[in-house]
Amino acid sequence: MNDRFSRACRREPVDRTPLWTMRQAGRYLPEYRAVRQQVDFLTLCKTPELAVEVSLQPLRRFPLDASIIFSDILLPLEALGCRMTFNPGPKLVEPVRTRAQVDALDRRPAAEVTPFVAEAVRLLRRELDGRTPVIGFCGAPFTLAAYLVQGEGKEGFGALKTMLYREPATLEHLLERLTDAMIDYLRLQIAAGAQAVQIFDSWAGLLAPAHYVPFALRWVQALVAGVADLGVPVIYFVNGSPHLLEHAATSGADVLGVCWRTPLDVVAARVGPGIALQGNLDPHALFATPEEVSRLALDVLKRVAGRPGHIMNLGHGILPETPIASVEALVAAVQTATTRTTDERLPACTP
Ligand code: CP3
Repeated sequence: MNDRFSRACRREPVDRTPLWTMRQAGRYLPEYRAVRQQVDFLTLCKTPELAVEVSLQPLRRFPLDASIIFSDILLPLEALGCRMTFNPGPKLVEPVRTRAQVDALDRRPAAEVTPFVAEAVRLLRRELDGRTPVIGFCGAPFTLAAYLVQGEGKEGFGALKTMLYREPATLEHLLERLTDAMIDYLRLQIAAGAQAVQIFDSWAGLLAPAHYVPFALRWVQALVAGVADLGVPVIYFVNGSPHLLEHAATSGADVLGVCWRTPLDVVAARVGPGIALQGNLDPHALFATPEEVSRLALDVLKRVAGRPGHIMNLGHGILPETPIASVEALVAAVQTATTRTTDERLPACTP
């Protein structure tokens, strides 16, 4: 049973620093592209056998320490009656812009609308058989609202920010609905066997701290509290976070996942010792030579050496053009630099 990821989430001693990468299943893998030639993205997400197959693909190549279930943060929004397409980014059939639209959103149970996610988690758990823990995930309410209001991913998310200033009560109602739906959705994944969950707040960085607290953080706190009784570690990933770190560390999550913009020693000093950290190699660093990738990975590791609770990861999702050799160099660097004997395990790995 490989439990170094789960132990690091809880800031317990580990035999070496655990490693996984956000978006580790995806287009940088030729075997993923081969599956996608056969089926469209939504069909892939909604067919448990295929979702499990692509979740396992990165683990067949690299000895990673966690497996994230293959899906997308937008899929559970079908429980609110929202329809979407992917090409490759998401597009909502009808953006949600008015109070009447928010009030008209459905309230369907995740178990009824997304049973395929629960089934995929169950199958993945069985296939992995303890080789790594399974991570479930969802989008943070604010990040989901960004796509719902805007209708698609768009620089600056102008329609969302307009709603925030013009109709803050409408946005708050939407955030409340999204929070309830995500509590239900994460609970479904945990009941199906997810051993940790990650909340992706990809667009929180759009907000100044004075808006981040009421429109993003407050709802993440409610979401974390809504699954706390189930006892699995929660990771809160907040992208574009240099100005938000102290606030983000108060989400209630066990682990703060940080983007690549702030060195981890600075993050650690700013948030204190009470929370594990995940990250934060710049995804573009993987376009350097393997030797340089290894040097840059060691730099990240050194910055938190000796601090209990570090999960090595990128500072955002792996990019589709990433060379496989770079991921291999990253894996090798983490393994050689942080492997420790039992006697050396306290307090944590020291590269
Ligand atoms: O991490 C994993 O391996 C699990 C799979 C996963 C996907 N999306 C698959 C995907 C996860 C965890 C996500 C989360 C997600 N989806 C986020 C949060 C993380 C982040 O990157 O900030 C966001 C913002 C989305 C919304 C989304 N879905 C976007 C913006 C896009 C297009 C961008 C891109 O990568 O092309 C998607 C589509 C998507 N989701 C793809 C994959 C593999 C590409 C679809 C394809 O195969 O054509």
